[in-house]
Amino acid sequence: MSNYHIKHLEEYFQVYRKSVRNPEGFWEEVAEEHFHWRKKWDTVLEWDFSKPEISWFKGAKLNITENCIDRHLRIRGDKTAILFEPNDPNEEAEHITYNQLHERVCKYANVLKDQGVKKGDRVVVYLPMIPDLAIAILACARIGAIHSVVFAGFSSTALSTRINDCGAKMVLTSDGSYRGKKIIDLKAIVDEALESCPDVKTVLVTKRTGGEVTMKEGRDIWVQPLLDKAYLDCVPEIMDAEDPLFILYTSGSTGRPKGMVHTTGGYMVYTAYSFKNVFQYREEDVYWCTADIGWITGHSYIVYGPLANGATTVMFEGVPSYPDFGRFWEVVQKHKVTQFYTAPTAIRALAKQNLDFVTDYDLSSLKVLGTVGEPINEEAWHWYNDHVGDKKCPIVDTWWQTETGGILISPIPFSTPTKPTYATLPLPGIQPALMDETGEEIKGNQVDGRLCIKFPWPSIARTIWGNHQRYKDTYFSAFEGKYFTGDGALRDEVGYYRITGRVDDVIIVSGHNLGTAPIEDAINEHPAVAESAIVGFPHDIKGNALYGYIILKETGEDRNRDNLKKEINELITDHIGPIAKLDKIQFTEGLPKTRSGKIMRRILRKIASKDTANLGDTSTLLNPEVVESIIKESL
Ligand code: PRX
Repeated sequence: MSNYHIKHLEEYFQVYRKSVRNPEGFWEEVAEEHFHWRKKWDTVLEWDFSKPEISWFKGAKLNITENCIDRHLRIRGDKTAILFEPNDPNEEAEHITYNQLHERVCKYANVLKDQGVKKGDRVVVYLPMIPDLAIAILACARIGAIHSVVFAGFSSTALSTRINDCGAKMVLTSDGSYRGKKIIDLKAIVDEALESCPDVKTVLVTKRTGGEVTMKEGRDIWVQPLLDKAYLDCVPEIMDAEDPLFILYTSGSTGRPKGMVHTTGGYMVYTAYSFKNVFQYREEDVYWCTADIGWITGHSYIVYGPLANGATTVMFEGVPSYPDFGRFWEVVQKHKVTQFYTAPTAIRALAKQNLDFVTDYDLSSLKVLGTVGEPINEEAWHWYNDHVGDKKCPIVDTWWQTETGGILISPIPFSTPTKPTYATLPLPGIQPALMDETGEEIKGNQVDGRLCIKFPWPSIARTIWGNHQRYKDTYFSAFEGKYFTGDGALRDEVGYYRITGRVDDVIIVSGHNLGTAPIEDAINEHPAVAESAIVGFPHDIKGNALYGYIILKETGEDRNRDNLKKEINELITDHIGPIAKLDKIQFTEGLPKTRSGKIMRRILRKIASKDTANLGDTSTLLNPEVVESIIKESL
């Protein structure tokens, strides 16, 4: 029996039982048989969730790029590693072989070194979905620098906050980016961000759109001429298994974004293992994940997981609606994609279009379909299954988080029978628990509760950059001895898990994780605003949309409401990015508060979703009368 590749349900159960009985033995076998280590570990696992401290493969030495690139060169040097599909369908796709990837990563790594980047330095990467993005992060990993990718749709303020938080001295970007019909001046956004980042000494710029940019002397450098001169081999830096590989920011329910720190050895083992099994990847397959590398899905399942398996991974620069809503399917047909992994929000948007956009293309190459990022509703699941998968492709509804590094709950295709809207069963090594509000574990089936994980897995984030206390408070304090996910879930009669959504103040909009606090902070900066509260409400395509309740200052009362709404959304766009714009804004006199002054979002959520019949007991509020008036105003 191979631990590494599960092929049927019986085997899944056997492997799962083994992984729970002896997690160290299980992961040691996987790590030993499938990766290249410069030195083996002294201990497989040391952990203490009360501190919390977790280390996997302590004492081991490796470089992840040797595992993702070098070791494949002998057997698959001429195989396509990255298949780049540009925004414009008339621009030719680029097939980057493992040999070419090796050379490009080495050259980029040498450029970084020449510019003074050293092991442990943080490098912020603000690049669009072009090959340089994947190459740049692998180049960082090659020399032991810690990459922190900031999604290139984020605003200059969001970018500068992240640069300053991780203390980066270098930023990698491009002149601009293409997104459908739009061209975005990325470099201008970087310039603005850097006005408040005095420590950044160097900006390397990739040319993509050819748009005009300002290059600040002594700081900004075009990267191509440096790459042209760079030496084509670069000896990999030998890293400890627990050395940080990257920092990736995610929203919290309060305050600043959290820089989740992922380390090298465990992350590699888990992303590779989960990729192989969840997508049942085979040598000749062409795998496509439509996420952006600015999110964890792109890190783990466009770059590291696939490359560690020697896979061909598609990198798509464009959007599903350009030049029309058939684009995804045109790309599937053109490259004979075998595994296709996307977000429910994209499926819902495409399902609203004429079916011809799908049926015009030959999708017979597809074997496995995946979804991630938010709960998938039944209707979208069936549309995906019927029209994209032709009822022949198992759908893997993969549940996981930035913090978990890899997929934790998912069907294994051709093994686990799927069930619409259910992420189904934990992967080997993952021990979920449902907890009640008193902190007790709820045993048995047909129950629901708060989703925790009881035992560490190799790719769990190890800390929050610069704030270990916050890591402890956020994930390990709600339920003693357990990692708390922030999600609610139910377990059905056969033990399948269904994720029901966030139980904290994080709202998932179009699959993007947004905290209420940073949005409220942005709104409150408006001179006419006294106070605000954001909640989510159901939306056909986005899953959730944002609803803002806003109290104006007396001075703001006379202002034109439409203008105010516009200005508020502009502020949000400036501070966070267009993804956080409010769909609905209600100006109100007051907000329902508990006696300790906490906003009762539960009530606001119900009003926003027009579910006011069941508001529960409001008599304990500090200001119960306000609820009636908010309901009236909302009608
Ligand atoms: O609420 C869950 C939801 O997305 C959250 C994690 O968001 P993020 O860190 O941005 O990572 C997204 C990509 C891994 C989770 O706490 N979520 C993710 N996948 C699913 C999901 N909700 C339901 N079903 C899923 N398959």
